[in-house]
Amino acid sequence: MSKINLSVKIGKVAFKNPVTVASGTFGNTNEYEPYVDFSRLGAFVTKTITLKKRVGNPMPRIAETPSGMLNAIGLENKGLEDYVENKIPYLAKIKTHLITSIAASGPEEFVKMVKVLDKQKVVTAIELNLSCPNIRGKGIQFAKHAEEVGRIVKSVRDNTSKLLITKLSPEMGNFFEIAEITVKSGTQALSLINTIKGMAIDVYKRKPRISNVTGGLSGPAIRPIALRYVYEVKRMLDIPVIGMGGIANWQDAAEFIIAGAHMVATGTVNFVTPRASMDVLEGLEDYMKRTRVHSMDELRGSLKLPEHILKYE
Ligand SMILES: Cc1cc2nc3c(=O)[nH]c(=O)nc-3n(C[C@H](O)[C@H](O)[C@H](O)COP(=O)(O)O)c2cc1C
Repeated sequence: MSKINLSVKIGKVAFKNPVTVASGTFGNTNEYEPYVDFSRLGAFVTKTITLKKRVGNPMPRIAETPSGMLNAIGLENKGLEDYVENKIPYLAKIKTHLITSIAASGPEEFVKMVKVLDKQKVVTAIELNLSCPNIRGKGIQFAKHAEEVGRIVKSVRDNTSKLLITKLSPEMGNFFEIAEITVKSGTQALSLINTIKGMAIDVYKRKPRISNVTGGLSGPAIRPIALRYVYEVKRMLDIPVIGMGGIANWQDAAEFIIAGAHMVATGTVNFVTPRASMDVLEGLEDYMKRTRVHSMDELRGSLKLPEHILKYE
């Protein structure tokens, strides 16, 4: 049988396959090296970095919930300088595309970061994390307003020639308006979705189970919601999507691709099954062979909609 073509193109970048990992769930450098051959990933996505070091939220920061987990890490990281000096040399050796996720307090800080990253040859793409729900107080705010998001994306766009990806969450104000302005302002792909706010209580202690009280819900519990956002965004906008939210196996990944996603990312599942991304990749390839689908272009967006839905197009 002829070989399956798993490659996908976003902007000018060709990714060898559609399987990647979700920011913050796959370490920042070598943490998953014993389990995953990084060169087999379509792309490696880093944990979100910020301009300055952040200590994150107090413990406990995670709690298991039905079919998922709550987290409120609070973007703990060592900052941009450390990333460039200590992480990039390792990441430069990985034989796949590197997507660097960043967050900042506003356009000026984003631009400062992007100017530094733009000079890093090894960085293929910048993912703007405009959607972390676990940040409070001064500093990074949760980008809720379309104009604000548009300003950020445009100022970043004007300062980098790298592939520009924006990550959104349903928690962001008017989601579809924001998605649209993001695209109009120069984003070349959307990562959908970030976590959805939730909470859990320890009834004996009568205390919240994470110190931040609320946290971001992830895992299979949010998969149908994530899938719906990918589907609806693809119906509305002509923009490549990296789908994520509860993807735990190849069937889940196939759902997102059939709904229209160019790429798919494993997130929370990496904590349970560290080699999940490889299982998804192998499972997808096998599924395509068995069902005689020869390329990602053939599978992507191939959802068969009922007549009564198509009638109202
Ligand atoms: C522990 C944890 C840390 C995360 N950290 C980040 C982060 O730093 N930046 C980011 O954009 N998303 C972060 N996310 C969100 C994931 O990248 C992903 O969008 C979300 O968890 C949904 O996918 P999943 O259900 O497969 O985990 C984090 C998620 C978890 C569970």
